Amino acid sequence: MNTKPVKAERLDKLLTCLGYGLRKDVRFWIKDGLITIDGEPASNPAKKVTPDQVLLMEKPLDHPYGLTLIYHKPLDTVCSRKEDGRLIYADFPERWIGRKPALSSVGRLDKETSGLLIITDDGQLNHQLTSPKKHISKTYAVTLDRPLNGTEAEKFSDGKLILEGEEKPCLPAELTIHDETHVSLVLHEGRYHQVRRMFAAVGNHVEALQRTHIGALALDDTALAPGEYKTLTGEELMILVKPSPI
Ligand code: URA
Repeated sequence: MNTKPVKAERLDKLLTCLGYGLRKDVRFWIKDGLITIDGEPASNPAKKVTPDQVLLMEKPLDHPYGLTLIYHKPLDTVCSRKEDGRLIYADFPERWIGRKPALSSVGRLDKETSGLLIITDDGQLNHQLTSPKKHISKTYAVTLDRPLNGTEAEKFSDGKLILEGEEKPCLPAELTIHDETHVSLVLHEGRYHQVRRMFAAVGNHVEALQRTHIGALALDDTALAPGEYKTLTGEELMILVKPSPI
């Protein structure tokens, strides 16, 4: 989780991996005196540097040690880089799209689902947040088309529910009923369209869906409006998501 020792990299490689531009751009910036290393104008794109030695246009580099964010995904946006429609990446600085390693969402929310989403370039952190073995639950606020019939909580929690087209039953999930068409559902795994398919399996239809929590992290506590995000370190994120037992 971004705790690897900092390795010196070629200046041009460092800047291209952070999405600033191409290697040829770095040569121009050097020629124009826009880059300093330890306060001195840079002269060699191949010079090995660590990120905190470098200023570009007098500014420190943008998240050179990894990038993780919590984001309020709005409705009508897609968690993909290629699909049609408005992509979640449109809400972030364009430069971030060119970063390597690439940013990706931790799991996906459907186009018609809003709520809490984590985006990171840290593969290990991504795995920690998605693997059922790591016990980080996801909670959804669900609005249903039809009133509950009273059997749903038992069917979702007994570990026997099989979704259409699958063979393996879902892990037990906890349903909290607010009224006959409003519930919260806590999942401990993330299958394709899982909430919608679970309600379809018990004869209902999801009208609106929002992810309200990832582990202990609550969307309401982030104060993020739809489309807004906050950056934080992987360590900070894990503390919010999984407070240590006292
Ligand atoms: N379950 C769904 O059906 N959709 C989501 O986006 C997330 C969970």
